[in-house]
Amino acid sequence: MNLNKIKNKRIVFFTGAGMSAESGVPTYRGSGGIWNSYKWQEYACQRAFDSNPEHVLDFHQLRRIEALKCKPHVGHDIITQIQNYTNNSWIVTQNIDGMHQRAKSKNIIELHGSLWELRCEKEMKIFTDAKKPEYAIRLCECGTILRPNIVWFEDSLDQNILNNTYEIVSNCDFFISIGTSGVVFPAAGIPKLAKSNGALCIEINPENTSMSSYYDINIRKSATEGLKDFVEELSKNEK
Ligand code: OAD
Repeated sequence: MNLNKIKNKRIVFFTGAGMSAESGVPTYRGSGGIWNSYKWQEYACQRAFDSNPEHVLDFHQLRRIEALKCKPHVGHDIITQIQNYTNNSWIVTQNIDGMHQRAKSKNIIELHGSLWELRCEKEMKIFTDAKKPEYAIRLCECGTILRPNIVWFEDSLDQNILNNTYEIVSNCDFFISIGTSGVVFPAAGIPKLAKSNGALCIEINPENTSMSSYYDINIRKSATEGLKDFVEELSKNEK
């Protein structure tokens, strides 16, 4: 890869569950999607946690165990390599599985939180020392049961994280969306922001999405194959 021309460009990779699909992590919607087998009302909202924390923690324990069985794939590595060529490129991910971190990427914003963190909802304290896949009920010093630090249904996104994301996306040269259905807001509105600020917007997804029309280029391929095409195009422009 020889990508000197993008050294001073800002690329934002905007990733969703389809980014991890080739690693074996299930997506949320479509065939094999998590929300086809599990009702989010029972597993992924504060109300479910308040009424049965063990049930909800067991579900997340299973997801942590399954995530650890998966490994980052070539597509993750390509992103890491591109980041190493540029001074200021970012990943804005809706994924909670930590796969980009495991691929040694940097500048990662986790819009929807992390499977590998807990938080006290009362004190809004985040606990990053919860890396083991197994869960046991754990209490904050204030006595509150710690919940996964994930943006569940009916939760709000952290405003500081959102503001930081908006600032980064507003100033990017390339915005590359990979593997997201674009139906969950406010994340789904982010491509529009990139577009209105003049970024070249590229969607990598084997399927059409509700946000496809906002993109300048639609690459109807898997994450890895689509990223390879992107790199090839950039390399051509080098010559
Ligand atoms: P979805 O499950 O809604 O969408 C996954 C997308 O990935 C679909 O558009 C697929 O076509 C695409 N896809 C599948 N395989 C792919 C591959 N190999 N390469 C590229 N794309 C592929 O997942 P998200 O859009 O990420 O929220 O869902 C958004 C949010 O909804 C998630 O963050 C989650 C969920 O509820 C939380 O966990 C808070």
